[in-house]
Amino acid sequence: MDLPPNVTLIDHPLVQHKVSILRDERTGAKEFRELVRELAMLMAYEATRGFQLAETTVKTPITETATRVLAGKKVAVIPILRAGLGMVDGIMELLPAAKVGHIGLYRDPTTLQPVEYYCKLPEDIGERDVMLVDPMLATGGSAAAAIGFLRARGARTIRLLSVIAAPEGIEAVCAAASDVHVYVCAIDSHLNEHGYIVPGLGDAGDRLYGTR
Ligand code: PRP
Ligand code: URA
Repeated sequence: MDLPPNVTLIDHPLVQHKVSILRDERTGAKEFRELVRELAMLMAYEATRGFQLAETTVKTPITETATRVLAGKKVAVIPILRAGLGMVDGIMELLPAAKVGHIGLYRDPTTLQPVEYYCKLPEDIGERDVMLVDPMLATGGSAAAAIGFLRARGARTIRLLSVIAAPEGIEAVCAAASDVHVYVCAIDSHLNEHGYIVPGLGDAGDRLYGTR
């Protein structure tokens, strides 16, 4: 598919290698969790590329020098439960001062519509750069609903980080929120009749937590 301007496909070799292992049905829960954590960190590195810097000076053991430090808004990391939780720690290693909010959604298996069961966000969400994280972007219903909750609580700058996306999910999020920048590591072929991404990796929550 032609990528809209607000979608970044992260085709870095390390990322692609890790996604391949993640997809493999033989990859167990422990390694799966490690890979999701590592991919989230690499995705955050890419997604923070546009962060603002300010000039400052530091004194090295040799001399004083001009240098730059982060100067933009603080960050909120918002996982969509359950699977998004697997991405939080990797991002927090890069951005330890970030606050974490949680949005609980599950997809009704029949209608594929997102059902909300929890939402707790940092009070100052409107002042923060939001990173909404969920490894899977399938129909896009969960991400679009989460973006709606975030907007209703005042969030303004939102980035969505999803490891694997279906074209349908990207189109749905772009239609609902074209100002949200979407970062993905792979755009797969299509959704199957159960709303699963093909080839995808199966059910991300079950593979992370060993359920089913
Ligand atoms: C998965 C996934 C996303 C959603 C994607 O969660 O983690 O949140 O499906 O599908 P969509 O784009 O069609 O909305 P699921 O509903 O399986 O819940 P879980 O993480 O609690 O298992
Ligand atoms: N949720 C998942 O975990 N996997 C899919 O392929 C689609 C939705």
